[in-house]
Amino acid sequence: MKTSPILMLLALAAAPLPALADGDPVAGAKAFKACQACHIAIEAKNKVGPHLQGIVGRPVASIADYKYSPAMTEFGQGKVWDEATLSTYLKAPKAVVKGTKMAYAGVKKDEDLVNIIAYLKDPSAGGQ
Ligand code: HEC
Repeated sequence: MKTSPILMLLALAAAPLPALADGDPVAGAKAFKACQACHIAIEAKNKVGPHLQGIVGRPVASIADYKYSPAMTEFGQGKVWDEATLSTYLKAPKAVVKGTKMAYAGVKKDEDLVNIIAYLKDPSAGGQ
């Protein structure tokens, strides 16, 4: 039996597109190990850095019981951590927020960055 071209087209249309732009939260959870010494995303518990629960969409420097650097507070004025701001900041924290006390050089691989953000959006999907 020959498969009709129409059926083949329908099958193609129904196939999920490869989600290259979307990160993988499981891979993100692994890459987040670089942050874990200072941050937790699954619960609202501050460590050396503020907790990152709900960080995507959260106003910058908004955790009341965390003492931010003056640099971060100033950078924050009216800003929200969306995916774009997070990407820019996490690539080069000290260049984006001059004077930040986050002692971290930056995420080197774009792939890790995208995955970390996917994990931060939904830490429970990262399996931890
Ligand atoms: C050595 C400790 C350390 C590491 C590692 C680290 N951070 Fe931070 N992070 C901090 C500190 C401290 C602050 C507060 C910065 C300030 O007030 O200037 C901060 C702030 C932040 C903020 C802003 C939070 C807010 O409430 O506005 C985000 C987002 C963030 N870190 C994400 C990350 C991610 C993601 C990683 C891993 C890729 C990471 N950090 C690695 C210590 C760290």
